[in-house]
Amino acid sequence: MGNHRKIILIVAVLAMLLPVGLLQAKTDIQVAGGNIALAELHKANKVGCVECHGVSEKIVVDDSEKGINIKCIECHGALSELSAKSKDPINPHGSHLGEINCTVCHSGHEQSRVYCNSCHSFNLPIAGGSSEIKKIVVPSGKSTKKSAVEKCDVVVIGTGAAGMTAAITAHDAGAKVILLEKQPITGGNSMLAAGGMNAAETSFQKAKNINDSVELMYEDTMKGGKNTNDPELARILAKNSASSVDWLTSIGADISDVGRMAGASVNRTHRPTGGAAVGSHIVNVLRKNAADRKIDIRVNSKVVKILENKGGKVTGVVVQGKHRGEYTIEAKAVVLAAGGFSANPEKVAYYRPEFKGMTTSNQPGATGDGVEIGANAGAELKDMKEIQIHPTVAAGSRILITEAVRGNGAILVNHEGKRFVNELTTRDKASEAILAQTGQSAFLVLDEGIRKSLKQIDGYFHLELVKEGNTPEELAKVLGMPPEILAQTIETYNKAVDAKNDDEFKRSDMPLALRTAKYYAIEIKPGIHYTMGGLKINANTQVIAKSGKPIPGFFAAGEVTGGVHGANRLGGNSISETITFGRIAGDNAAKLVKPVKK
Ligand code: FAD
Ligand code: FUM
Repeated sequence: MGNHRKIILIVAVLAMLLPVGLLQAKTDIQVAGGNIALAELHKANKVGCVECHGVSEKIVVDDSEKGINIKCIECHGALSELSAKSKDPINPHGSHLGEINCTVCHSGHEQSRVYCNSCHSFNLPIAGGSSEIKKIVVPSGKSTKKSAVEKCDVVVIGTGAAGMTAAITAHDAGAKVILLEKQPITGGNSMLAAGGMNAAETSFQKAKNINDSVELMYEDTMKGGKNTNDPELARILAKNSASSVDWLTSIGADISDVGRMAGASVNRTHRPTGGAAVGSHIVNVLRKNAADRKIDIRVNSKVVKILENKGGKVTGVVVQGKHRGEYTIEAKAVVLAAGGFSANPEKVAYYRPEFKGMTTSNQPGATGDGVEIGANAGAELKDMKEIQIHPTVAAGSRILITEAVRGNGAILVNHEGKRFVNELTTRDKASEAILAQTGQSAFLVLDEGIRKSLKQIDGYFHLELVKEGNTPEELAKVLGMPPEILAQTIETYNKAVDAKNDDEFKRSDMPLALRTAKYYAIEIKPGIHYTMGGLKINANTQVIAKSGKPIPGFFAAGEVTGGVHGANRLGGNSISETITFGRIAGDNAAKLVKPVKK
């Protein structure tokens, strides 16, 4: 792009960002260069330090950058307002990330970066920055100036579903909680969760006459995990799943739609009405509940160490804040909910060299700090080699195509136009089968009927991942495969649906035939998705030391733990785990403490 066009672009973006009054006076701004920090752009528009920082000297920015964000919103409006004004097809201000800080993308004193591109690769304009940056954003925490030691009852590490659930539960049990997140946004991988949350014997299943049982969910979970799961933990997962659905519903979530994911004997995957993505919805509900309770949540705050006393009891954490530097929080209990390590290619390749170089569906913070700081505090690790690849990540991207698309009826065909696997077999088997096909990829094929049955599918159109044709033959031509073969594959599958018998691949659940034009396809490849291994815990979520004994004051929940899923997790079982074990951890951590007066 030439300099002249760059200047026009920057001025155009400024036009969206600057207050109307200022803009009217400043239509003749001269701005040099593309990658210029926002402070300079503001200065060029006579908006100085004071307007953003509120004071002229000794400017203090808190790690969460709350003060600065209030100023951004005062001048430019909240994300929801900016989003409502946008006419762009990709609208970063109205994304699934929710009401995040403006400073997640817009920086005053360094190049701005489009956070969406940590997972996507959108060509989005951003004032004072580049849309091409895909650099992972983690707090630097360079300064190590001594700060006062803080105290609370319970420190929770990680703001995914497990951490937020634990924090809310501990708070409701009377504990003073501090919740720490190293990324600039809350939500972790939980915010990306798509297909849904598994639960058995729920009121939503009963209303749909779905005949399920805790025992069946337990059996499916153990079978999926190749019977290497910790049976006690798997049973807790199944037994508490319905009450976790009730708990989420009681705090404002809608997970009333029930579908199916691979490896489940019946429909038990709960998600919002119409089949919308589960993660962004429940994370927003959890965020609101944490905010309503005024829980102290700090982003850009990375825990680097778990502290123990001489007797081996956990006594707090060392935090590295983006602006504040290193400081200590003393606590009577610590809940570690820092997620997995699928976004750490070195760690993945260390445990599974054959997965080297594979894409991942995970958010950039999923680097496995949790297992490291947990192990450094004496925790025993288990099942570390059990790393799950998800069969359907859109080829050439990090966008997960939810298993629920197959659950609602889509089939998998190879480059020759043929089915090659039971689409609802477990992920390990489906991924293995895809990797054995030409180009180590395949196509998810669906029709308009399936598209209409699941809201999430519209998102894939939005991201331009979908190819289409008015007939199977037309679609095949677009995909470069023999038209008559794809047409035959679809016809044979439709007959199997009619006969309720898939002779070829023994797929047991075929909810919809593919007969309604248009026909669609998304090219997919397997990608690193979930790490089953992690800290060993007991039924009370206490972290187990190498000695086999629980480490006093130390709890863990969610993907950072190992044991619930054994060698292979079933789709939908993780969100269920985060809520159930997050609640147990929050409750038990709070029981340990004599509440500090709030
Ligand atoms: P996370 O949600 O990952 O949260 C951990 C948090 O800890 C992160 O925010 C991380 O940045 C933070 N953190 C890490 N280290 C530190 C540190 N040192 N200090 C402070 N903070 C730290 N599961 C299902 O059951 N159903 C689904 O439909 C589903 N869909 C998925 C779709 C995608 C694209 C992905 C990636 C996963 C999906 N999963 C699904 C899996 C599921 O979302 C995750 O396994 C689960 O959300 C993990 O929750 P968690 O709370 O344990 O960890
Ligand atoms: O495909 C998915 O929606 C992912 C589900 C999961 O990982 O549980």
